[in-house]
This record gives sequence, structure tokens and C-alpha cells, in this order.
Amino acid sequence: MLFDFAAIPANARYKLLVSTITPRPIAWVVSQDAGGRLNAAPFSFFNAFAGDPPVVGIGMGSHAPGRPKDSRLNIQETRQFVVNLVSEDLAASMNVTAIEFERGTNELLEAGLTTLPSLHVKPPRIAGSPVAMECELIQVVELGPSSGLVLGRVLAMHVRDEFVADAANHVVNTAKLGLIGRMHGAGWYARTSDLFEMPRIPLAQWKKPAK
Ligand SMILES: Cc1cc2nc3c(=O)[nH]c(=O)nc-3n(C[C@H](O)[C@H](O)[C@H](O)COP(=O)(O)O)c2cc1C
Repeated sequence: MLFDFAAIPANARYKLLVSTITPRPIAWVVSQDAGGRLNAAPFSFFNAFAGDPPVVGIGMGSHAPGRPKDSRLNIQETRQFVVNLVSEDLAASMNVTAIEFERGTNELLEAGLTTLPSLHVKPPRIAGSPVAMECELIQVVELGPSSGLVLGRVLAMHVRDEFVADAANHVVNTAKLGLIGRMHGAGWYARTSDLFEMPRIPLAQWKKPAK
């Protein structure tokens, strides 16, 4: 079946994208406005885009045309944010922070979440989160009237001690993090516990003639 994106409405295009590009990691973003009012919300249009410099990107939409989501407004205002990653035990709290609250609502309070201070940025990190990245805004790429891609440079990463396998060599026990990913529809998620390993093939090995 061919779905020609020029011939279908925006909500159908969105549906096709989010029901096929799965699982998507979730950035649980803590930001604050110029007055210091805190905000938290999850975003699954999220990934890492470079290691050097360390860059993450988050696609942020609007609550209504011309009314960008509070996270984006805050990040444009103060240029700082924290990306917390979501483990399964935090799923329900994360879902509370996704409620379309009025601007100025502190979703961290609504969800009963405690925070810890960040080192380089003003917004705090979520205490229960296994991984938190302190970020500063590089730029917002305007993607249309209702969407923007927030690009952030990661200044520091906090990993809970129990998930660090070898600090000197920066080895994290990824499987133990228990992170979840967003799947299709409004409410489906995936666990990251069904893993398999496949080492990369060095070119020299690929070219070696078979004996
Ligand atoms: C798991 C999950 C992922 C989400 N991903 C996105 C996303 O990538 N982009 C987006 O604009 N909204 C996304 N949302 C919806 C926002 O979290 C929601 O609109 C939230 O109220 C925005 O809050 P804010 O206005 O405080 O920034 C997602 C919601 C959930 C539950």
C-alpha cells in the first residue's frame, strides 16, 4: 500500500510516522522559564545526532497553532534544559507529566517527583531517573508553523552509580537501565529487555578470501 504524503492530511502522516518509526527513546525534559518556574514533559521525537560535539535533538510541537509547547518556549527563553531518561518504574510518573497542563504548571509537583541540582544548568534533574543529561541550546530549527527541532549540546551526564559498570572506562550497564521506548498509538511502550548481539564486521575481515 502506498501512502503519498502529499495526498493525506497532517494527522494521517503523523500516525504513519509514529506507528512505524519505533521504538523511540524518550527525552523527559526538565526546563524552566525566565522566572524560574519549572516544567517537565516527555518527548519521543528524540535521539542523539553526534558524538563530537555531543548533540541531542528533540522535535517539539505546539498545543495549538502558534502556541508552542511550554518546554520549547522555556528552552528558547533560557537556553538550558535537562534530558532525563525513562526507566519502566518511572513510566506512570512520566505519563502524568505529559498531561496538557496550562503554562506555568509544575509537572514535577503534579507527578510527585523529587529533583537533584544540576552542575552546569539551572533546571534540576529528576532524582529517580537512571540517566540525566545537562544540555544547552544550540539552535531551534523551525520545521513548520507548529513544529521545531531543538538541538542541544550535552554538557554533562549523570548516571546513577548502580548502573556504572566501569567508571574509568565510561562503561554503563545499559541493559540494567531498564529504559522504555515509545511505540505506536497514544499509549504503547516497549521494554529494552529483549536483546541480541551482532558484532560489526571489519572491512579487512569481509575482504579476506575464504579458505
Ligand atoms: C511518551 C510521550 C512522548 C511524547 N513525545 C512528544 C514529542 O516528541 N513531541 C511533542 O511535541 N509532544 C510529545 N508528547 C506530548 C507532550 O509530552 C505533551 O504535549 C506535554 O503536555 C507537553 O508539555 P509542555 O507544554 O509542558 O512542554 C509526548 C507524550 C508522551 C506521553
